[in-house]
Amino acid sequence: MVAVDNLSNSSKESLNRVQKITGKTLTFVQCDLLDRALLGQIFADYQPDAVVHFAGLKAVGESMVNPLDYYKNNVCGTATLLEVMVENSIKNIVFSSSCTVYGAPKNLPISENSPLGAVNPYGQTKLTIEQMLKDLQVSDTSWNISILRYFNPVGAHQSGEIGENPSGTPTNLMPYMTQVAVGERKELSVFGGDYPTKDGTCVRDYIHVVDVAKGHLKALEKLSENPGVIIHNLGTGQGHSVLEIIHSFEASTGQKVPYKIVDRRPGDAASVYANPQLAELDLKWKPSSGLRRMCEDSWRWQLKNPKGYS
Ligand SMILES: NC(=O)c1ccc[n+]([C@@H]2O[C@H](COP(=O)([O-])OP(=O)(O)OC[C@H]3O[C@@H](n4cnc5c(N)ncnc54)[C@H](O)[C@@H]3O)[C@@H](O)[C@H]2O)c1
Repeated sequence: MVAVDNLSNSSKESLNRVQKITGKTLTFVQCDLLDRALLGQIFADYQPDAVVHFAGLKAVGESMVNPLDYYKNNVCGTATLLEVMVENSIKNIVFSSSCTVYGAPKNLPISENSPLGAVNPYGQTKLTIEQMLKDLQVSDTSWNISILRYFNPVGAHQSGEIGENPSGTPTNLMPYMTQVAVGERKELSVFGGDYPTKDGTCVRDYIHVVDVAKGHLKALEKLSENPGVIIHNLGTGQGHSVLEIIHSFEASTGQKVPYKIVDRRPGDAASVYANPQLAELDLKWKPSSGLRRMCEDSWRWQLKNPKGYS
């Protein structure tokens, strides 16, 4: 297996930890997806059977401030990757899409054929890439493409060796909350307490990152059946409010999380959660970890690595 990353939002140490956990050797090449020459060399050298394409910028707020960075990195980066795959006759890919492609959903739970419509540049890059992949497969039906629309991945590997290590201020709830609990930050801001939800705070579908990882293995298996383009939600089907997450974290870890309710954040939908049945049916994939486990594992990672990988 070869891992390729430009290290713009990651650390090589995470790959050492992966090797430690799995006992397997991993080849790493530092490369930007926009570096066509180096990418071509990597494919020529290693001739992989399939690509699992996670690389991309992913902060919604940042994408609204710097949209061109997002289009260039995510869309042009993926186009370059696909061109290089074509040149090397490698036509199996699993792509990390996101529930942001559904925008502000009118009906819940969200199934794969719910209306699409991104409400920010980040989501638009995911939609554009999805379309690019679908068009490519129409032009050459020997491509097999799995599009996985993740909901809200949280948690960490059970060993506490690998976990979320955002550079700068975390923009997601779980890493922010664990940094508050470990004393790195003073308090958590909860954006909006007046949404039409059970307790006024936003509801999301949190899913354990290990369940997400297992979804990729199932998707790769499915690609060997030559399915063409397949699209699946990776979520649990359970919506949890921000306050429920805080209380669950406090109950499962014994840590207090000081928080305050502040103004809504522009662009946040009140409730977003998946209908995950298609993935269960097609991929034989079902998430196995509940909220408690997600909180415990996030906390173990944070405690073992208060400064992330550094
Ligand atoms: N974390 C989430 O909540 C979430 C939800 C839905 C979808 N996704 C998608 O899943 C994927 C992985 O997300 P993550 O949370 O692990 O994010 P991450 O930032 O940890 O991982 C993305 C990786 O891509 C690398 N990268 C970015 N641009 C690159 C480029 N041009 N060339 C080479 N490497 C590049 C970064 O260094 C980073 O290691 C992303 O595509 C993201 O959009 C994430």
